[in-house]
Amino acid sequence: MTMTDPTTASHAAAAAPRVAFPSGFAWGAATAAYQIEGAVAEDGRTPSIWDTFSRTPGKVANGDTGDIAVDHYHRFREDVRLMADLGLTSYRFSLSWPRIQPTGRGPAVERGLDFYRALVDTLLEHGISPVATLYHWDLPEDLEQAGGWPVRETAHRFAEYAAIAARALGDRVPLWTTLNEPWCSAFLGYGSGVHAPGRTNPADALKAAHHLNLGHGLAVGAMRELLPASAQIGVSLNLHLVRPLTDRPEDLEAARRIEAVGNRIWTGPMFGGGYPADLIADTASIVDWDELVRPGDEAEIGRPIDVLGLNYYNPTVVSAPQKAPEDTEGTEDAGDTGGPARFDGHGDSAHSPWPGAEDVVFHLANDDVTAMGWPIDATGLSESLIGMHRDFGLPLMVTENGAAFEDVVGPDGEVDDPERTRYLRLHLSAVADAIAAGADVRGYYLWSLMDNFEWAYGYDKRFGIVHVDYGTQRRTPKSSARWYTEVIRRGGLD
Ligand code: FCB
Repeated sequence: MTMTDPTTASHAAAAAPRVAFPSGFAWGAATAAYQIEGAVAEDGRTPSIWDTFSRTPGKVANGDTGDIAVDHYHRFREDVRLMADLGLTSYRFSLSWPRIQPTGRGPAVERGLDFYRALVDTLLEHGISPVATLYHWDLPEDLEQAGGWPVRETAHRFAEYAAIAARALGDRVPLWTTLNEPWCSAFLGYGSGVHAPGRTNPADALKAAHHLNLGHGLAVGAMRELLPASAQIGVSLNLHLVRPLTDRPEDLEAARRIEAVGNRIWTGPMFGGGYPADLIADTASIVDWDELVRPGDEAEIGRPIDVLGLNYYNPTVVSAPQKAPEDTEGTEDAGDTGGPARFDGHGDSAHSPWPGAEDVVFHLANDDVTAMGWPIDATGLSESLIGMHRDFGLPLMVTENGAAFEDVVGPDGEVDDPERTRYLRLHLSAVADAIAAGADVRGYYLWSLMDNFEWAYGYDKRFGIVHVDYGTQRRTPKSSARWYTEVIRRGGLD
């Protein structure tokens, strides 16, 4: 692995790549605290909902936990050196709330903050621009015991924690994202129960969604007071790129419902439009929105942000329930068990993560799938970015995109992963298409820097461009990492 140096970079500029990205484009990789840090009981950290959930039998594959993960807490200096060797210009990571504010209330634990100060300083020393996510799913267990996200108070707790983080790190972190994929927190955590805390109550899921939104808005407000004027704040949403199976009205209606509870439940209030009337109508029998949303909440959630992060993995194809077998032609996955098929890519549960749209059927977009069973279709990424540019008109970032494959360590200890390189190439090319079509996309953070704890799938699914031997914690860049380094060095794709 060679270091990127300014000399080679200027030579590269002479022979521009076929698909060049704008200068200053952030070439990044992403991780999340619980997935990599380990050290779950060190320096004052207390359990998060993911510690509790992963220790509950049957919730995570193989009974895996994040207790050790990839030991990043102790190896972060080595990991940052690796990032520098790869040529990354930016790194997106998340702060562990229970490491910083163990019970979710009261004063900060300085040792927890010191870890992030040291991480950020090491990144800056290596010329890597830090992007800090405040919440990547690890709610302090004490707050869950007090009701979790379905309870309004949690939004206020989150804003207090955001202020602690901004005070401690605001002088050196130029870009913040509040929440990572709040859809997953609300609907997988409290709806289908495949994620922590594993509750399965549709009303709680919708309440959680509102309080996550409110927490985001309150956090933006609190951080604006504390951060330097140059600091940018955003949020990372897994907006679903929803495609109706056909143009039949009932399939368009299915797509509308999924867009409402998948996407517009966030972007409505965040971009000043409030909660969409159709979402409220779809879910009126589940939750009392008048009671849930108090006067002023939507204005709070709609506080301006500087950048919108998109996490994109695959498109979402939906239809109305299909009764007759002939209706399911070409879509073996549809409805053969009587209930809606679950090819939404969000795990298996008897409980739907789609309140108000429980009967919508999900279809595999194509058979070209990753090890997660997620279809590979990069056109959804350009379509999403172009749509977001059109609808919201603010700078965008791809804050996650990547793929798991069954990696094999060769006899020479190397990992050759051409499928991952192909996936990344297709998706970076889709980003370039969106930029060419006018979308202001400022950066790309592939998921993930290194193999890690993949939530309910434990260590079975590997998303890294760097292989981790979980026995020895040895890191080995895969061939996709070497490819990415070359893309970064050239400033684009050939
Ligand atoms: C996203 C999560 C990230 C990782 C990828 C594969 O939904 O934000 O932590 O699990 O999926």
